Amino acid sequence: VTTLREDQTVVLTEFSDVWDAFRRRDLRQGGYDEATVILADCLMVLHGDEHKKRRRLENRLFRRGTFRWWESDLLPGVIQEALAPCLLAGGTDLLDLGYRTIMNLTALVAGVDRPLGTGEETDALKAFTMKFSEGATLGHNLRDRAVVRTEVAEALEKFDRQFLAPSVARRAALLAQLEAGAITEDDLPRDVLMVLMRNVDDLQLGPDIIRREIAFYLQAGAHSTANAFVHAVDEVFCWRAAHPERAHQLSDDRFLQRCVHEAFRLHPASPIAVRRALADVELSSGRTLPEGALVEMDLHAANRDSKVYGPTSDQFDPERVLPDGIPPWGNTFGGGTHACIGMELDGGVPPRDDEPGEHVLGTVTLMVAALLAHGAHPDPDSPPESDPYSSRAHFGRYRVRFA
Ligand code: HEM
Repeated sequence: VTTLREDQTVVLTEFSDVWDAFRRRDLRQGGYDEATVILADCLMVLHGDEHKKRRRLENRLFRRGTFRWWESDLLPGVIQEALAPCLLAGGTDLLDLGYRTIMNLTALVAGVDRPLGTGEETDALKAFTMKFSEGATLGHNLRDRAVVRTEVAEALEKFDRQFLAPSVARRAALLAQLEAGAITEDDLPRDVLMVLMRNVDDLQLGPDIIRREIAFYLQAGAHSTANAFVHAVDEVFCWRAAHPERAHQLSDDRFLQRCVHEAFRLHPASPIAVRRALADVELSSGRTLPEGALVEMDLHAANRDSKVYGPTSDQFDPERVLPDGIPPWGNTFGGGTHACIGMELDGGVPPRDDEPGEHVLGTVTLMVAALLAHGAHPDPDSPPESDPYSSRAHFGRYRVRFA
């Protein structure tokens, strides 16, 4: 048996090892030990039965029927609200547009009301979310951690006063009306906050935990989707430039969804997932993960494993033929018990000929489709720039113009 010190790390880069490790019970979440200010007792860091109980309840909301309703009733308005000022201006930055769209959608899903429905509220939510995200990635922060922790705790307080407390009060009033028989279950908002408030006793949730869980949802949904959106648009622009004679295919939603899934595979928003081994674990490949080891799963490398995606695994190919049972986005949404709860909301459901009614396009495909429908193209005077503050190969600036 190999023994490792507490601080030693095993890195997994093969698709099959990463896939396998995500599904092992003796590997617990390990990437957020420093991030308790924002993540303590949140779904992402719970393990075993505690995780199962919370996840089962929150899953009630993340059902295909709800996704279809989000997609048909909520999303078109959210996309139009964000896009309208950009169209008027004749151009925009894709990250700004991505955040404006997804911030409002994630707030609706999390249960954070914007009482006035203004852009200022969206900006305020984005600023809070940025700070929460600093808290979630504290382990990698080069600033004084105690200072960052204090800033995050203060942001949580302010967020609570400005957004969360009024959202809780509105839902509490609705629950009172439900109890009095004045409204029915169908009149309650379909969001995470509502689910948590209805199950406070079952889950033993104090107000602090609810506050962190909602803040965590905002940051889990917003950053990954905004970055995924920009990568998807970039890949689509490059593909269109290389295949001008096939550009019409992009108005086929199914083809566009394949493009988005291929971009998800090549550019996982969180390129690494981390676990701690609670016992010796032997993977199917024969590789041993010794008790106490930190296990770093390199999703970026695993998603480009040529043993699974073939010799062109590094390239963007929306017509790639996938082996049976392999998701088009690889490990980008994680796997096993902690697999991303927003996976189908963002990625939709890959079309299946035997279940035509089940097809859901997903938020990112609809965001890209709306952009292309307005003739978006890269701004020739302002080439894209990568984000100098991120080690994650994301864009920091991406200007587009509308035809
Ligand atoms: C392209 C967009 C997204 C990507 C690439 C992504 C990726 C991921 C990954 C890799 C994980 C698992 C992390 C791990 O196992 O350590 C995860 C978990 C999670 N994601 Fe996402 N995510 C996206 C969008 C969203 C959205 C829109 C929401 C919510 C509205 C969301 C909510 C969550 C939650 C709650 C978890 C924790 C699940 C659990 O621990 O049981 N994500 N996501």
